[in-house]
Amino acid sequence: MTLSFNRVCIIGLGLIGGSWVAALRQSGVIGHVVGFDRNLDSMQEAVKLGVIDEFVDSAAIAAQGSDLVILSVPTLAISAILAEVAPVLKKGAIVTDVGSVKGSVESAARMYASAHLPQIVLGHPIAGSEKSGVAAIDASLFERQKIILTPLAETNDQALLSVQRLWELAGARVELMSVERHDQVLAATSHLPHLLAFSLVDTLAHNHENKEIFEYAAGGFRDFTRIASSSPQMWHDIFVANRSAVLDALDLFVGELNALRNSVAFSDSTAMLGVFTRAKVARDHFSKILSKRAYVEPMNSKSLTYIVSPSEKVSGAFRVPGDKSVSHRSIMLGSLAEGVTEISGFLEGEDSLATLQAFRDMGVVIEGPHRGKVVIHGVGMHGLKQPPGPLYLGNSGTSMRLLSGLLAGQSFDVTLTGDDSLSVRPMNRVADPLRTMGAEIETAAQGRPPLMIKGGAKLKGIHYDLPMASAQVKSSLLLAGLYAEGETSVTEPAPTRDHSERMLQGFGYDVLVDGPTAALSGGGTLSATNIDVPSDISSAAFFMVAASISEGSDITLQHVGVNPTRVGVINILRLMGGDIEVFNEKTVGGEPVADIRIRSAKLKGIRIPEDQVPLAIDEFPALFVAAACAEGETVLTGAEELRVKESDRIQAMVDGLNAIGVRAEGTPDGAVILGGAIRGGEVDSLGDHRIAMAFTVAALKARSEIRIADCANVATSFPGFIELASAAGISVSQLEG
Ligand code: S3P
Repeated sequence: MTLSFNRVCIIGLGLIGGSWVAALRQSGVIGHVVGFDRNLDSMQEAVKLGVIDEFVDSAAIAAQGSDLVILSVPTLAISAILAEVAPVLKKGAIVTDVGSVKGSVESAARMYASAHLPQIVLGHPIAGSEKSGVAAIDASLFERQKIILTPLAETNDQALLSVQRLWELAGARVELMSVERHDQVLAATSHLPHLLAFSLVDTLAHNHENKEIFEYAAGGFRDFTRIASSSPQMWHDIFVANRSAVLDALDLFVGELNALRNSVAFSDSTAMLGVFTRAKVARDHFSKILSKRAYVEPMNSKSLTYIVSPSEKVSGAFRVPGDKSVSHRSIMLGSLAEGVTEISGFLEGEDSLATLQAFRDMGVVIEGPHRGKVVIHGVGMHGLKQPPGPLYLGNSGTSMRLLSGLLAGQSFDVTLTGDDSLSVRPMNRVADPLRTMGAEIETAAQGRPPLMIKGGAKLKGIHYDLPMASAQVKSSLLLAGLYAEGETSVTEPAPTRDHSERMLQGFGYDVLVDGPTAALSGGGTLSATNIDVPSDISSAAFFMVAASISEGSDITLQHVGVNPTRVGVINILRLMGGDIEVFNEKTVGGEPVADIRIRSAKLKGIRIPEDQVPLAIDEFPALFVAAACAEGETVLTGAEELRVKESDRIQAMVDGLNAIGVRAEGTPDGAVILGGAIRGGEVDSLGDHRIAMAFTVAALKARSEIRIADCANVATSFPGFIELASAAGISVSQLEG
């Protein structure tokens, strides 16, 4: 489409319309520009600034013969202008406006210019500033700003496209919306804040010494009230024009403000903290959107590459972040408990933060996290509220599987969604047994997310023999069992992590563990407790392997969780000849923790005992690297579960190892890896955090650099990995984009 307008007129020479015309003049698509404004000075200044070529005596004269008519007058003046220009409009001329309210302009257009409706394109740039007038005109005002166009049923596609293109030429991004929706959204996001700012400043200016206000105005007052210096006349017009939507937004706000007033009056700390923590999270989220970053940064970003150079050895004594499994469970049980639960050592990774956000969305007041401290104001077993929308769980399979059980017994409907990786992971392993308990759960095709869980289901306890060794499935059923009538019991084919059982007991709930079977009865309550989350052995594993494979290394990892259901990595490395010392053992809040010292050793290939597989299930990416550096062949069997983790970890590791010169072959339930020299090269982590970290460790022993693609998801389980790895002696940097 060639865009060219010989004669353009702009009626009303303010900041918005003037800046648009100034930008269009630079782009060269508009010819002669005629202006009209009620104010002679503005017109003269606009000519002087080169925004318009000439000015005329009336809107009608300006519009006559113009191919494009831009209405940039105050909202309430638009009717009169439309009535004046409609009779003289040139055939085919496009008319567009920049008003902040669209419903009133639509009515005016229908009333005074109905014959021209196909050529009228209503628009609203979400830009501007508290400044106004010709002097503030700025051709770059709309760069990267949003413009909302609100086409009417009659609007001609060609006219709409032309206006869209004209905005894009000014650097703006165009979105389409209905008139009604536009007015509602703007009432809430723009008009209400302006009303509040005007009102607050006016109230304070009335009741206090002006001098005092301005002396202390550097703080909240200044930030909150900047927009109160906007044009009074313009805002008057907006409130008249958008009265009904503004009143709806205002009524909602007044209701909430009154509730907050009561919280303050009665010193209701939980209610106050609820409002403030939710608001802070929302505002932080919003700041990220404004700075064009993802919500749970950098989730889903495909753009992070690790570049790791070979290095000599690793050393140091440090703590890796908190255990992911324990962190998830601490939020879940703390939320359902009676009373306040304080957590320290909480993992501030995206996965556990997704769980935390889900409970905030269900009305739980959660303070933090701040340096690993989280305070949860428990709502009791039946205190969760329906979230305002689907719960987005990012990359986190643990969140989705455990929550599906916990939510199956609630009174409200809820939908669980996740990122691309989570969206292809199998959920029938939890949905099927939960349905047997009476849950109503729908999944997408082949048992994949999203999960739609119907509220109000009456759950009955069942006995379930787990078909696979999965702590997530076991935990999901036990959490559903809290809400079920009678006893729920689960028998597992091999021991899996038992954090749920231990933590439930820590919260005062009776869980009977008899060999491979865990059982509980529904209907009890949880009492708040304090939780000290140990460091995650799954994160520690990368440093255990790093120290083992590089000569002269000596690392001590402090306060690591050494729950017997998680120590497979220690057992397997020892079987391979690893030099690992576990000391300072103690129990913290029901979980064993210890310091672990690892020194380099000559590793040899082994056949990994199958009984160790569930005890090291998340550590195989790291163990594959140990096998690659060992003498001889390592054979893994009985590990088909690795194929349905955040990626198909058997395939991802085998492909990656082959890419860097190591001979490895996948089998349906494991792999065969032949230890040998690591060449260096490029590998794809497939967005799987543990694959990315495993190859970072492999690079220690490589002959040349390893580049690892798609590493952003390391933040799901190990925030600060790069920094810690560098401090230990791994030479790693990251490349964005
Ligand atoms: C987890 C259990 C394991 C593990 C996951 C965390 C848990 O999954 O791989 O990272 O916290 O219960 P499975 O239950 O699928 O084996």
